[in-house]
Amino acid sequence: MRVHVADHPLITHKLTVLRDSQTTSPVFRALVEELMTLLAYEGTRDVRVEPVDIITPVAPTTGVRIAEPKPLIVPILRAGLGMLEGMVKLLPSAEVGFLGMARNEETLEPTTYAERLPDDLSGRQCFVLDPMLATGGSLIAAIDFLLQRGATDVTAICILAAPEGLEAVEKAMYGRDVTVVLGAVDEKLNEHGYIVPGLGDAGDRLYGTV
Ligand code: PRP
Ligand code: URA
Repeated sequence: MRVHVADHPLITHKLTVLRDSQTTSPVFRALVEELMTLLAYEGTRDVRVEPVDIITPVAPTTGVRIAEPKPLIVPILRAGLGMLEGMVKLLPSAEVGFLGMARNEETLEPTTYAERLPDDLSGRQCFVLDPMLATGGSLIAAIDFLLQRGATDVTAICILAAPEGLEAVEKAMYGRDVTVVLGAVDEKLNEHGYIVPGLGDAGDRLYGTV
């Protein structure tokens, strides 16, 4: 498994505003989308392309286009939905599948409550979107799900990670063709499984408490 932590002052600047508890929901949503677009640039570095012949107004040449089968973007509901627009802006021809997961706030175990994905993901390149990688349980379950369906390589894009969760994902995905792209790795998890300093509950800050 490969890990890439984006190191860019614009990302750190936007993350600082995102973390601030005074930031309102509309601003938070806009920032998640902007951060996603910046992280997508790094996350799609290995997107599969194929050669294509074109003719410019001056001369014939060979370029590239996104290869078939098209990549699949999988936002993890709810919070991952906030990242979807930022990703499809960069990869408009991709298809989108959905996984709904909720972490039990006492046991910290994830449960899958919704799934809308192609039955067969053989040969598909998948991009999983979830802003928070805390204990890593949700991301491990999501990536396992895609690999079991035949996905060949999976890139997960998260805004924040806790070192404990990142280590758990690395252990679970050892030797697999998995890449994790992160906006930052924070200090630790607290006793409630929240990332410190983090940004609080990403789903609630995006969409309100349910
Ligand atoms: C949050 C977050 C991740 C998960 C991370 O979702 O969006 O999916 O927690 O925690 P983990 O790494 O310990 O598994 P949550 O379960 O709160 O659902 P939500 O997106 O509906 O708010
Ligand atoms: N889920 C969140 O939304 N935030 C955390 O800090 C941990 C899990």
